[in-house]
Amino acid sequence: MLDHLQQAKESFIKRFGEGGRIHAIRSPGRVNLIGEHTDYNDGFVCPMAIEPHVLMICRAREDGQVNVHSSAYAEHDVRFSVDGEIARARSGDWSNYVRGPAAMLRSKGVPMVGMDCYITNTLPTGSGLSSSAAMEVGTMLALLTLAGNEMGAQEIASLCQRAEHEYAGMPCGIMDQSIVAGGREGHAMLLDCRDLSRRFIPLDPLELRVVVVNSNFKPQLVGSEYDDRGRECEAGVAHFRKLNPGITHLRDVTLDQVLAARSDLDETVFRRCRHVVAENARCQQFAELMEKRQYEQAGELMVQSHESLRDDYDVSTTHLDHLVDSAVRLKGVYGSRMTGAGFGGCTVSLVQPRHVEQFAEQIRASYMQTFDITPDVIVTTATNGAQLIE
Ligand code: GLA
Repeated sequence: MLDHLQQAKESFIKRFGEGGRIHAIRSPGRVNLIGEHTDYNDGFVCPMAIEPHVLMICRAREDGQVNVHSSAYAEHDVRFSVDGEIARARSGDWSNYVRGPAAMLRSKGVPMVGMDCYITNTLPTGSGLSSSAAMEVGTMLALLTLAGNEMGAQEIASLCQRAEHEYAGMPCGIMDQSIVAGGREGHAMLLDCRDLSRRFIPLDPLELRVVVVNSNFKPQLVGSEYDDRGRECEAGVAHFRKLNPGITHLRDVTLDQVLAARSDLDETVFRRCRHVVAENARCQQFAELMEKRQYEQAGELMVQSHESLRDDYDVSTTHLDHLVDSAVRLKGVYGSRMTGAGFGGCTVSLVQPRHVEQFAEQIRASYMQTFDITPDVIVTTATNGAQLIE
């Protein structure tokens, strides 16, 4: 971390010159232990903030100009003024992760100053570990800090979620921004995405390690699947609301209601509803088991979650299935599942500390042998949410 910080500061000075007060913000990635595709259904999630991070070195400018360089997106810098309308860039352009949060602060009337900012990542981009939320939350914290303003973590998260919707064009739930802004060292967060209440679940690194494996594979033709899932869930809600007008989200539906509605629902909608409703129950149960240190049972719920994401929600891939199947056969593994939106990305496994090294070696070998792709194995620790570190 210190080396990374020192290097980042040197890169900042090389690009933007010496002088003035320079700040550093660390904004973490996240991995979700369980509770997948539940956040936009007003349900429960259990993510933690992780060590690979986005580091933002920044310094205020008096002319209102924002200049941002990112080593991960070196092809072009972001430039705009906080004093005028902050336009959305074309879809897929990384600058929306900076423009969006600035525009949200502007729309709230929060005073801003300009900044020079250098972003560098240990967090891989586009791999399902929320590098976009890390950049959004980090940018907002930078703009707030430089203008001498403060804002609570959940308000930052909600504004960054809006930025993701309106600028990045991704209709995400509240999970990623909430954990990136509000994570707690050594803990996962059980978040109720309806009222945003939370409980922190201790993770003892002496008893278990959380290992992320990046499949480094994204299938082609991935595009609107996330939006499709949201629409399919809404179709489910529309059905259940006819039975009970108090139902506004799948959160309000029981598994018995879903099973009883099988013949009335479109088969795909039925499976989507079954996943979400069962996953909400699993997530809450998982948190309780982890608190009681019943890791075996908690791990089983992770595997059930994976199967449900694979069979009912249709968001897994052959690569992720292979990683999970191999993981659960290895020594010292409590559980394993795909994590994040799916369609590629990462798996997460709970592993006994003394077996971690062997786990990493074996999973790497098995994956390489099958797909001829080298996966990245990241042994994580739960860290704090985005913070000013200097
Ligand atoms: C993405 C979204 C989150 C959540 C997950 C799936 O990471 O940004 O809001 O919906 O997918 O659980």
